[in-house]
Amino acid sequence: NFTPNAFVEEIVAEMKEKIGDDKVVLGLSGGVDSTVAAVLLHKAIGKNLYCIFVNNGLLRKNEFQSVLDQYEGMGLNVKGVDASQRFYDALAGVVDPELKRKAIGNAFIEVFDVESHLIEDVTWLAQGTIYPDVIESVSVKGPSATIKSHHNVGGLPDYMKLKIVEPLRMLFKDEVRRVGASLGIDPELLGRHPFPGPGLSIRILGDITLEKVQILQDVDKVFIDGLKSWGLYDKVWQAGAILLPVNSVGVMGDERTYEKVVALRAVESTDGMTADWVHLPYEFLMKVSNDIINKVKGVNRVVYDISSKPPATIEWE
Ligand code: XMP
Repeated sequence: NFTPNAFVEEIVAEMKEKIGDDKVVLGLSGGVDSTVAAVLLHKAIGKNLYCIFVNNGLLRKNEFQSVLDQYEGMGLNVKGVDASQRFYDALAGVVDPELKRKAIGNAFIEVFDVESHLIEDVTWLAQGTIYPDVIESVSVKGPSATIKSHHNVGGLPDYMKLKIVEPLRMLFKDEVRRVGASLGIDPELLGRHPFPGPGLSIRILGDITLEKVQILQDVDKVFIDGLKSWGLYDKVWQAGAILLPVNSVGVMGDERTYEKVVALRAVESTDGMTADWVHLPYEFLMKVSNDIINKVKGVNRVVYDISSKPPATIEWE
């Protein structure tokens, strides 16, 4: 039986012992896992924890600034680095999902490497890896190769020469949230849906452009704000919108349109390894579909994804 307080006490003591007076660098993502990992380490080693929050240009709308403000408010020693353009450059013309992950993983490592070299004598890298990340990365590598290479697990280049510390490695998502609550982290932050490291890039099928990112950010915001205002957000494990590489014919006033199709996805799950699509109320879907088409220029059709995992996956790429 998992008790958050006991876990915190134990892991903080373990981290103190392991890390001593060394310096640790940690990449914050805005998600629950890296935030809880940061707060735990902050508790263990205080100012020797250096956090870096990179804007890859693929986050949800306005999230870079609002999350950075929140981290600063929590007393974390955090540096925000806007590297959006670097990621867009790395992604230019890339269509294959695994190549997107690779391009983003590499760009992230480059940015992170530059930033961590600015911290004198840092010797540890902390990561918010949780148990299901470890499992998916290892066990899906069958004879037929990786299903999805979650880019935030392992895979660091040797030249970084940092030792790895992963305080949440043995925990499931709900346990991470309970640990976060016992640490006094804002419930709204703890209740945030999981969001993939490669961000919106794997929800834009086909190549990535700034214009597409902005369209998807706007669609996603209408959907997520809608879930919150209808009291549905906390009933869903993960939700998001997907921009399809398809135009369809529509009609606006007297005009024929030929614009983008977006898919909405909302799933129930306990650990992301299996998932069921959520039976969102028709009234909600109707309202959100109208809002998206009316508010977001360039989109004239909304569809809802009714596939479960397996055989589908949560993300489309
Ligand atoms: P799938 O699509 O494999 O997703 O059913 C399961 C969970 O993992 C997230 N996901 C990722 N997270 N890097 C990440 O950090 C990735 O490349 C990645 N791909 C999928 C997905 O959002 C879901 O929560």
